[in-house]
Amino acid sequence: MTTIKSYVQDNKDRFINELIELLKIPSVSADPKYKDDLLKTAEAIKDSLKDAGCKKVELCETPGNPIVYGEHIIDNDLPTILVYGHYDVQPADPLELWDSPPYKPVIKKTEIHPEGAIFARGSSDDKGQLYMHVKAFEYMIKEKKLPCNVKFMIEGEEEVGSSSLNWFVKRNQQKLSNDVILISDTGMISNKQPSITTGLRGLSYVEVEVTGPNRDLHSGLYGGAVANPINILTKMIASLHDENNHITIPDFYNKVLEASTEERAEMAKAPFSLDTYKKALNIDDVYGEKGFTTNERNSIRPTLDVNGIWGGYTGEGAKTVIPSKAFAKISMRLVPDQNPDEITELFSKHFKSIAPKAVKVKVTAHHGGDAYVTPIDSIGYLAANKAYTETFGVEAIPQRSGGSIPIVALFEKELKSKTILMGFGLNSDAIHSPNEHYGIFNFLKGIETIPLFYNYYTEMFKNQ
Ligand code: BES
Ligand code: MN
Ligand code: MN
Repeated sequence: MTTIKSYVQDNKDRFINELIELLKIPSVSADPKYKDDLLKTAEAIKDSLKDAGCKKVELCETPGNPIVYGEHIIDNDLPTILVYGHYDVQPADPLELWDSPPYKPVIKKTEIHPEGAIFARGSSDDKGQLYMHVKAFEYMIKEKKLPCNVKFMIEGEEEVGSSSLNWFVKRNQQKLSNDVILISDTGMISNKQPSITTGLRGLSYVEVEVTGPNRDLHSGLYGGAVANPINILTKMIASLHDENNHITIPDFYNKVLEASTEERAEMAKAPFSLDTYKKALNIDDVYGEKGFTTNERNSIRPTLDVNGIWGGYTGEGAKTVIPSKAFAKISMRLVPDQNPDEITELFSKHFKSIAPKAVKVKVTAHHGGDAYVTPIDSIGYLAANKAYTETFGVEAIPQRSGGSIPIVALFEKELKSKTILMGFGLNSDAIHSPNEHYGIFNFLKGIETIPLFYNYYTEMFKNQ
């Protein structure tokens, strides 16, 4: 009998090499010039599912990038797990900050990863994590140990708002019917302390444009007499937080579900060192909303952040100019029960209301999404916890994350099922940043833990 542990040991070099091949394709969804690479990646994942023994695999056409769909039904009386992941990645820039090229994966040892980590864009988010599912499935098929039905749905637009997946899910409820959704696209506390993500924040993303005079002006001839849109924009942005770092948009907090004292006490039990946190980021202090801890600030509280700001002259040397326009991209991370459309509307109304008459303001909404929380007494959660306990030797801690996977709330609405977020990444993986990496330990541990989830879930499903 081959256990998953020995299967992983015997095949790990092949697993790693296969992942490396996948990471070589630059599947950047934000930039249309990578269209062919997205298609190539989708094909490669489809083939990997087929090779693993998945009975039915296909690329589903959408208005955007194709969705890789796989299905392996063994018995309609058994539960069905739907595995979701995304094969698109964030742009790699700024390229000059990478120690090795983003699409030439290399394995390097780090302090946290003595076994080595794979450095490449998408290694942790999400190719490395989704590929664990393909390999865990391969084991269950090859060793005839698949205990239930499984469906795979791997999309190529997560990093740009999942609009094609929205379109696809709404049209394919029957096809996608399942008992539980399983996703590895989040992180855990550390390699010694696993955690299960029980919440994701929602998102409202806007772009603002402030226009002053109809053209760029000489800052001597006109300076002081007309509004400088950059001065105005920065002043408006600064006013969006008060001295306690509360957001000043009227009614912004109206629907925020406040965590109870007990919940907050429970959260505070998770191991966390503010010192280590500060050291890892090379900062002398943290900064955030008064009255909340660091972990609360980045999970149960909503935020407003400027992601980018531009305008005027930024080239070499000095140019004396009052620009005609200034721009910023602003994201608001939301928590239950804030509604992204409502928040976008509140932002827009407020932002226009604080602008002086001397400028015009345009607000454009980008993609958004609802926040998500999942209970810790569902059989999905309990099965995941048992699986982690077995492979890590300690129980997993429930933890709400600050990140967003907007499609998870849509799954609940359209497919009526709960999602279990079994992520194996670490905060230090540098996802979306230069030098993104994924620990070999994490990759292999994930492959080991996933089949256990299948077993425990199926067992608990039958007994419920
Ligand atoms: N996998 C991340 C989300 C994530 C990472 C959640 C770590 C929790 C822990 C996902 O790919 C992502 O980057 N989501 C975006 C939202 C999307 C709409 C662009 C995000 O959170 O910024
Ligand atoms: Mn992701
Ligand atoms: Mn991401």
